[in-house]
Amino acid sequence: MAHIWPIGGGKGGSGKSFLASSLGRLLAKAGKKTLLIDLDLGAANLHTMVDVPYPEKCFSDFITKKINLLEDTVLTTPFPNLSLISGAHDSLDIANLPYEKKIKTLKAISKLQYEYIVLDLGAGTAFNTLDFFLASRNGIFITTPEPTSIENVYRLMRSIYLRRIRHYFSVTDFKALEKKVKQHLGDDSFNKPEHIVAVIKKEYPEKYALIKKDFNSFSFKLILNQLRKQDNVDLGLQICKIIKKHLGISVDFAGNIAYDEHVHDAICQRVCFLDRYPHTRAANDLRELNKKIGDSFGEQLMLNYL
Ligand SMILES: Nc1ncnc2c1ncn2[C@@H]1O[C@H](COP(=O)(O)OP(=O)(O)O)[C@@H](O)[C@H]1O
Ligand SMILES: [Mg+2]
Repeated sequence: MAHIWPIGGGKGGSGKSFLASSLGRLLAKAGKKTLLIDLDLGAANLHTMVDVPYPEKCFSDFITKKINLLEDTVLTTPFPNLSLISGAHDSLDIANLPYEKKIKTLKAISKLQYEYIVLDLGAGTAFNTLDFFLASRNGIFITTPEPTSIENVYRLMRSIYLRRIRHYFSVTDFKALEKKVKQHLGDDSFNKPEHIVAVIKKEYPEKYALIKKDFNSFSFKLILNQLRKQDNVDLGLQICKIIKKHLGISVDFAGNIAYDEHVHDAICQRVCFLDRYPHTRAANDLRELNKKIGDSFGEQLMLNYL
């Protein structure tokens, strides 16, 4: 089974597609058969970052049944070992992908014959985005050092956490849980995972044990992108500490990617940044991150809702 690396960020412009294309390029260059899937359907542009100017087929052809098999939507890129499922031409909003189609897509992704599959997810916290992020235990969060971006990535993590907790309850039980949380802690307490978890621990101890075990098996990573000289290099570590404190989930800080004007130049020239500017700080950061992430993500386990 492929290693699946979903990349999520709360905010557009944080560098999800740049990271997805760069990791894809590095994995492919190391001889790994790699597939990039652009699931940022509202703002699909991953194809441009891997020099596929006019994708003749895309993800929504599978959703609309124009193409029956997901593997038949795969495009080749100019880079050996690197393939792409483009999100281009999509008038489809991922939030509107019906449940059966989402499950069908997740199943189809899990069967694709690649060593690595990198998912470029859209910004925001639509349930479908959360479920694609949760398709693997090896999700990667990305943010810039700006407070707005950090706020949004925190919101994304919180939503992912709640989405996973929701998985352990039937509709009726979840309603009962909501009532209990509000009774104990007030009306606006239900969007705070720490409150919910405190009530689960007290009222549903067996579920609490399962949820804890489940989250311990996740290996979330955080990357800080576009770090300028004046930014605090330890900001990522600090964010992870806050997440641990407030959400109780472990997210490992994987590292920083330096801000570099050449990223813009490479994208405008439609060339791969790593190939065109291999000796920059940012290229070095990307290579280090790729190695670190590859080493630390163990065996791939798909989540059990498939
Ligand atoms: N490390 C970086 N240094 C400088 N600019 C960057 C860097 N990463 C991303 N960018 C810029 O930010 C823009 C948005 O990146 P992109 O990957 O498209 O974000 P997202 O997919 O999250 O919306 C890019 O067009 C690029 O110009
Ligand atoms: Mg993008």
